[in-house]
Amino acid sequence: MNQDGRTRLNQTPEWTALAKHREQLGEVRLRELFAAEPGRGSGYTLQVGDLHIDYSKHLVTDETLRLLRELAVATDVFGLRDAMFRGDRINITEDRAVLHTALRAPREAVVEVDGENVVPGVHAVLDKMSGFADRVRSGAWTGHTGKRIKNIVNIGIGGSDLGPAMAYEVLRSFTDRELTVRFVSNVDGADLHEATRDLDAAETLFIIASKTFTTIETITNATSARNWLLGELKAGQEAVARHFVALSTNTEKVTEFGIDPANMFEFWDWVGGRYSYDSAIGLSLMIAIGPDRFREMLDGFRLVDEHFRTAPAESNVPLLLGLLGIWYGNFHDAQSHAVLPYSHYLSKFTAYLQQLDMESNGKYVGRDGLPVEWQTGPVVWGTPGTNGQHAYYQLIHQGTKLIPADFIGFAEPVAEMSEELKAQHDLLMANFFAQTQALAFGKTPEEVRAEGVPDELVAHKTFQGNHPTTTILARELTPSVLGQLVALYEHKVFVQGAVWNIDSFDQWGVELGKVLAKRVEPALTEGAEVPGLDASTKALVAKYRELRGR
Ligand code: F6P
Repeated sequence: MNQDGRTRLNQTPEWTALAKHREQLGEVRLRELFAAEPGRGSGYTLQVGDLHIDYSKHLVTDETLRLLRELAVATDVFGLRDAMFRGDRINITEDRAVLHTALRAPREAVVEVDGENVVPGVHAVLDKMSGFADRVRSGAWTGHTGKRIKNIVNIGIGGSDLGPAMAYEVLRSFTDRELTVRFVSNVDGADLHEATRDLDAAETLFIIASKTFTTIETITNATSARNWLLGELKAGQEAVARHFVALSTNTEKVTEFGIDPANMFEFWDWVGGRYSYDSAIGLSLMIAIGPDRFREMLDGFRLVDEHFRTAPAESNVPLLLGLLGIWYGNFHDAQSHAVLPYSHYLSKFTAYLQQLDMESNGKYVGRDGLPVEWQTGPVVWGTPGTNGQHAYYQLIHQGTKLIPADFIGFAEPVAEMSEELKAQHDLLMANFFAQTQALAFGKTPEEVRAEGVPDELVAHKTFQGNHPTTTILARELTPSVLGQLVALYEHKVFVQGAVWNIDSFDQWGVELGKVLAKRVEPALTEGAEVPGLDASTKALVAKYRELRGR
């Protein structure tokens, strides 16, 4: 029994029933499941908004899905979901509400935190962002010397970088191509150097994105950017106001940095960093695609929020995807999960999901303060197909690890390409469909032999198959579809955290490294004695100083 009165997850009858079911199913074969159920290919599908979800190629039966849903009921996933939407403080270790869903609520919605409706504040900021984005896009907002802004540089890290950087890539074909938009996150000076080296400072706007406005990487880069700008313009502090805006919850620190609070776009502590790019953190994206497209994206988020909030368990897509992950992680011992988009525009999507999923669910302590006795979040990885096919797919097809994967693809290529390039889309998608087929059904030794392959090569050319995949297919990649996809994964992560009974909304695991970096820095720069430095790190620091000639 837990401290909170709940039975430990792995002692619940629902968990035990799943473990038993796993044993009974044994090495279930997808070939057999499909042979036994002729309707499986079209029957194991769901639709949410524009997303068609095919989960037929999973190592599950109706019974598996029923038992998984029972586990969700036993762990009160929907109770926690309702508490989240209601604005309860479900981030218990930080005592905060978790309300990214309020960021995409319509103007007339009411969502209360401590008795106050937060929706008017959300829309006031969206309106302020829209006004600013329009002024930059039209040229009405000029730099210190009166020149039009042509370059946007977003400086932020983690959730203050990955979301807008990913979404900017995804929606490139919707962006104002006259604008250069770049994202700087790394404290390695090379990042800012490369982002600014060919820019005219007089035409450059820096957006400093930091929820806390204390993150050392961001403040260091922002300070260097300010120095670069003032140096290039040969101007004093007064130039900052036309070239720097801040996205933050911390007015005091923004002001201290020298940015006029009038040029600050606020958000709130109930927006987690990795859930924040549809807040003020999305300003660079909004400037690039325009407020109307941004709104379409928010509506896409909203659509999936409503689906997650109201759809019955049997057709609830985030619930299904979350539970499938639990089936593999907890009952097949899968360690990782691949996300493989067949769209070049989604090149940063998996990197974005890494923070969303791994920072949320990479926890070994439960909400009750006790260590969990079951696996939690998987290693999330992947890059766009078909590139991955010529790199690591070998291991997925014929390696020794079980790697469940999501395949994301679109029926239409983006509209602005030439007809010749659009024609390549069918080849891209032929790969998309072929891969999930090969992964699921493989190739038997008999099939290999029938091709005339010599005996000694038959084993090498045999594909065991049975590698589970989800296919997510939509007509085209629009701002709304991007919102739908992101919300789908946000809620999938939520479902898993709820079942595992962990706090998916804190991130204490990144703190220790931050503290130690601060402590180690004087050892590098001044050769200072750092108390408590272990022998290995001490020797490495000495080597570093030697290599730098210090
Ligand atoms: O990596 C830890 C973290 O706190 C993330 O959760 C967050 O997105 C990132 O740092 C950046 O934080 P901030 O927006 O406060 O600069």
